[in-house]
Amino acid sequence: MRVMRWLLCGLAIVVGLVAFSWRDTFEPDSLSGARVLLTGASTGIGEQMAYHYARFGAQLVLTARREAELQKVAQRCLKLGAKKAVYYAADMASPPESEKLAHFALQNLGGLDYVVLNHIGWTPFRMWDGDVDHARWLMQVNFISSVAIASAALPDLAKSKGSLIVISSLAGRIAMPFTSIYSATKFALEGFFASLRNELVMQKKDVSITMCVLGLIDTESALNKTKGIVNQEAAPASEAALAIVKGGATRAMEVFYPWTTQLICGVRDWFPAQRDWILRDSYNYTTN
Ligand SMILES: NC(=O)c1ccc[n+]([C@@H]2O[C@H](COP(=O)([O-])OP(=O)(O)OC[C@H]3O[C@@H](n4cnc5c(N)ncnc54)[C@H](OP(=O)(O)O)[C@@H]3O)[C@@H](O)[C@H]2O)c1
Ligand SMILES: *[C@@H]1O[C@H](CO)[C@@H](O)[C@H](O)[C@H]1NC(C)=O
Ligand SMILES: *[C@@H]1O[C@H](CO)[C@@H](O)[C@H](O)[C@H]1NC(C)=O
Repeated sequence: MRVMRWLLCGLAIVVGLVAFSWRDTFEPDSLSGARVLLTGASTGIGEQMAYHYARFGAQLVLTARREAELQKVAQRCLKLGAKKAVYYAADMASPPESEKLAHFALQNLGGLDYVVLNHIGWTPFRMWDGDVDHARWLMQVNFISSVAIASAALPDLAKSKGSLIVISSLAGRIAMPFTSIYSATKFALEGFFASLRNELVMQKKDVSITMCVLGLIDTESALNKTKGIVNQEAAPASEAALAIVKGGATRAMEVFYPWTTQLICGVRDWFPAQRDWILRDSYNYTTN
């Protein structure tokens, strides 16, 4: 009986802690007028984040490569309530563009409160084929450009006590088949920004870093690639985007969406061989 009581007590504490950590402390007003630089904003989760920020009355600088798409997203943002929505079309494969983008945002918004690093370059979903040039290119687009944008924006974020929001993936915590280089770029982001977060605290700089761990989300690019290979349900992009926007605004260290990603990350290292077996087994792959 006594054991039972202790177990119930422990369970209640765990449930309480989980409920406490999941409570919604987001205040929509905190984003009204907020100055936001958002990358990868022309489509997918980035486009949905732009609309959420717009509904909360933020001021936006949107970026991606395709100008026509950015223009459409910016116009819709203004209709939804954005205080400002301008765009800067640029290819993050080009090293000078990161700094130019940060300067464009600082000039147009007069400062920055949020920098959301969401863009990724295209990469195939298949076995590693030895394409080292692609690896170098993807590292630049997904990782180095993000480091450069964050570095150029940091002095201003320190002044505004602003936030960096970094979009990672379950593939940035657990390496899965068919995503070798993509996964490497996400592990790189996780390593860099976790280290930077500690350094900012040590320097007493009040800039929050929110790392977002996403599972499979129903964007066209993700579904196109994984269709027929991993038959897993995809979560809605608009909800993923809202979870990220809220997590950033509440200065959370981490955002997990959908919630199962937190569970998976929690047990990641318990049974590594069995974990990898389950992962491989979930792929539709046969050698001919
Ligand atoms: N969807 C998922 O299942 C999933 C899962 C885990 C994590 N995530 C993460 O969530 C984020 C968004 O994913 P998503 O599915 O929304 O991606 P997406 O739909 O493919 O959108 C990618 C965005 O990046 C831009 N982009 C591509 N190449 C670029 C380049 N060279 N320079 C500058 N911008 C470039 C694209 O616009 P342009 O083509 O106009 O340049 C687009 O706006 C990514 O960080 C991704 O890793 C997604
Ligand atoms: C997805 O696939 C369809 C059909 O193959 C193609 O027309 C479309 O451009 C693809 N979209 C993306 C984002 O890759
Ligand atoms: C598995 O892949 C094969 C060919 O690559 C395809 O014909 C089949 O439909 C796929 N199965 C599922 C369940 O998606």
